[in-house]
Amino acid sequence: MSVIYFDHSATTAMSPEAIQAYVETASAGPSNPSSLHSDGRAAKDRLSRARDVFAELLNCSSSEIVFTGSGTESDNTALFGAAYAQRKRGRTGIVTTAVEHHAVLNACRKLEDEGFTLKVLPVDEYGCVRLEDAKAAIDESTAVVSVMAGNNETGTLQPIAAIGDWARKHKACMHVDAVQAFGYLPFDLQKLPIDLLSLSAHKINGPQGVGLLYIRKGTPFLPRQFGGMQERSRRAGTENVAGISAFARAAEIACGQAQIRREHAESIRSAVLQELTDHIGPERFVVNGHPNDRLPHVLNVSFPGISSESMLMNLDLAGVAASGGSACNSGSLKPSHVLSAMNISPDRISSAVRFSFGLGNTREEAEKMAKIIATISARYA
Ligand SMILES: Cc1ncc(COP(=O)(O)O)c(C=O)c1O
Repeated sequence: MSVIYFDHSATTAMSPEAIQAYVETASAGPSNPSSLHSDGRAAKDRLSRARDVFAELLNCSSSEIVFTGSGTESDNTALFGAAYAQRKRGRTGIVTTAVEHHAVLNACRKLEDEGFTLKVLPVDEYGCVRLEDAKAAIDESTAVVSVMAGNNETGTLQPIAAIGDWARKHKACMHVDAVQAFGYLPFDLQKLPIDLLSLSAHKINGPQGVGLLYIRKGTPFLPRQFGGMQERSRRAGTENVAGISAFARAAEIACGQAQIRREHAESIRSAVLQELTDHIGPERFVVNGHPNDRLPHVLNVSFPGISSESMLMNLDLAGVAASGGSACNSGSLKPSHVLSAMNISPDRISSAVRFSFGLGNTREEAEKMAKIIATISARYA
């Protein structure tokens, strides 16, 4: 049975081009970029080329790029790195939102345990932060503001530019988790008021276990991993050169095809909604998240009366891969913190399913899934 993969926000398959870049680098011989001999220099060249790719895509300097081991590590490194440095300047406030990924939320809670003051901004019914709330929370004591670009469960976009402007006014560091948005939305770091930006390779058809943290020149930052002087002493540890080469190739393709990716995801999303309307009727499902200000590839739908777990299990049996909230939470019965923060009804929260799309998906898959959902819904009617 071929699987309909509607779970691209959890992870994506590596593209042939990324695999080729990985294999080419991994089979080139020993490659420690810190070694002074010819193999080491060749590895350093590959690493520099990858760094230059990102510098061009993000419109920043290559010296501002730090490679890490995941999106989670990038988020943690950004938050602890900036918070510790800002504390030395007397700033101990952390501002974030209730709908961040746990990589941010749990890092912020750890900082709170360590004595930082944490303010978690509420969101509206669409999962969007109100600018007035952000403005009221950020002041001269704020060390770091961390707001995601696009949400991994609902796709809702946050007003990061406006919040970043306000953070800058108050000399707070602005961190943006762009793990889900990168490859769909442009990030021009000459224009955007962002000091720290997190990316992850496996969401854009690159390998797992590779991330990137952009640190704007001059941003207060103290490393939190100690060892060698890799990544200009901002992240010790021998770089994953093959993984980074593959990430750079995947990023070139994703950003080069951003418009096609957006249009395609949007068309599959619309097809799923149309097919659901045709097959189960508009009264049997509700879309969660912002109707317009959202990522194109994420669709969060509640099927009131059918629990997320039942729907996901039945979909899986029928060959459809989807997710209930973030992948890290799937398998657990805990209600999504993102949907809970949106103050929607408990029935909507407990029956939510996230579908997330990629270039390989087709309209036929959308239709097939709607028919499968019609069969499942009939069992629970
Ligand atoms: C918004 C967001 N941030 C961070 C992460 C963590 O990235 P990684 O899986 O590379 O650790 C994810 C992964 O789902 C995510 O969606």
